[in-house]
Amino acid sequence: MSSCPAESQTSVSISPAARTAARCTAGLPREAAWSQRRIRIGLLGLGNIGQAVARLVASAAGAHAGVHFHIECALVRDPSRARACDRPPCITNNVSAFLHGRYDLVIEAMGGIEPALTIVTQLLERGIPVVTANKTLIATAGQELQALAVARGTTLRYEASAIAGVPFLGTLAARPLVSSIDRFTAVLNGTSNFILTALEEHGGTFAHALALAQQRGLTEPDPARDLDGDDAADKLALLTSVFGWGRVDRASLEGRSLRDVSSRDVRAARALGGALKPVALASRAAGGVEAFIGPTWVPAHTPLAALGGTLNGIELHGRYVGDLFFSGPGAGPDVTAATLLDDAIEAVREGDRSGGSGFDFAQAKKDPPPHPVSQLPSRPREPLRITAPITPWFIRVEFPGVVPTVGVLTDVFGRAGMTIEHVTDAIDGTRYVLAGPARRERMDAAIHDVWRVHRLRCVAFRRLG
Ligand SMILES: NC(=O)c1ccc[n+]([C@@H]2O[C@H](COP(=O)([O-])OP(=O)(O)OC[C@H]3O[C@@H](n4cnc5c(N)ncnc54)[C@H](OP(=O)(O)O)[C@@H]3O)[C@@H](O)[C@H]2O)c1
Repeated sequence: MSSCPAESQTSVSISPAARTAARCTAGLPREAAWSQRRIRIGLLGLGNIGQAVARLVASAAGAHAGVHFHIECALVRDPSRARACDRPPCITNNVSAFLHGRYDLVIEAMGGIEPALTIVTQLLERGIPVVTANKTLIATAGQELQALAVARGTTLRYEASAIAGVPFLGTLAARPLVSSIDRFTAVLNGTSNFILTALEEHGGTFAHALALAQQRGLTEPDPARDLDGDDAADKLALLTSVFGWGRVDRASLEGRSLRDVSSRDVRAARALGGALKPVALASRAAGGVEAFIGPTWVPAHTPLAALGGTLNGIELHGRYVGDLFFSGPGAGPDVTAATLLDDAIEAVREGDRSGGSGFDFAQAKKDPPPHPVSQLPSRPREPLRITAPITPWFIRVEFPGVVPTVGVLTDVFGRAGMTIEHVTDAIDGTRYVLAGPARRERMDAAIHDVWRVHRLRCVAFRRLG
């Protein structure tokens, strides 16, 4: 019979009582020991994601891996707000009160940079594992936070921050050499993909497709972050950071809004052997990164072209692996919550493997941090420069009156230094042109000339292949 006190068998390992429990369960089969784990969670944010985490914790699935999560406290802006989940024993808007809780792990689902960055930094400094869904935080300070976690012997995990339903970041992190990535092409925003798919399948106006996305709860009340590319840009910056390329200068990233796309464009793209998709592309280049985001023509035979509805996908190119492709649901509260809890389980297991997990605040106050903060790696001073790549183009040409002949179009674009590969028949005052590779500046100059001389209105989308 075990001589362990009953109380200690439900504790976690970092406190003296929990260390005793760990010793007491050491002789049990692994699953039996796991079934006794009770993990105290601090939850930063109780919005869409935080509430889904709380619901999952309260459900049977919350104990699926034999780990019993218990939410001790949630930090919110407005503690009086009704929540669509069980209320944790403590809900506070006081950061110090939250930080005085005793947690084995903290889940960050607040969003934004501050105060999340300051709080997560404090938690990692004290050795508390942190799991986050916050792409902006990881894109901005992921490398520094990761270095801090390593220095403090704890864990930072962020699988839920990009393409939450597709566990690929952890897979790559576990194989850093084999999966060293030098280029990726991705659909990173499910709302944008849904809108382009709706334009193709149902026709109608952009406003109608957007309304459909809103009816299905796929957009924020203000959908600008999805439509104008901010969300995809955050994820692109996160990935360049996670792949070890460095922090990129977001301000220099070329982006085209989805609002420029019509159902006619999407159908013409298909008729020309491709598909218009909301693409984010980044490639390592000498001295920086080549990248852009925006609706882009991709060949129909590529995996990205096959992604419909809200699906996300990422095609990775690495030196040793050639091409890899991951796809699946991009976001949504339930899948994000499940990924956060999977990360939490993984963080606890990592703590077990390294001989300790969790945190005892009272003990930590007695023990100074192992390294002075000044010795931590500082943030790189200069972000990486982003340049836009040279690509071919898919161009909508609208004419108010006389149909411009193929010869005229070839001539006017040719004079602007562009080569023309194909021109479609004219339908309803519109032709589509496939143009050869050029820089964005040359494309813009050509569009300007075509308007100035011939009063032809053009909208150009990048083309991959
Ligand atoms: N929604 C998705 O499908 C999805 C998918 C993947 C990743 N994510 C990421 O998950 C994170 C959370 O997203 P969400 O949709 O859950 O956001 P949300 O609904 O706006 O929830 C944010 C939560 O954080 C709290 N909060 C925000 N600022 C705070 C502050 N200064 N002090 C204290 N509490 C604060 C809010 O408190 P109140 O409730 O009192 O306002 C709210 O509970 C974001 O980083 C997002 O990018 C979301």
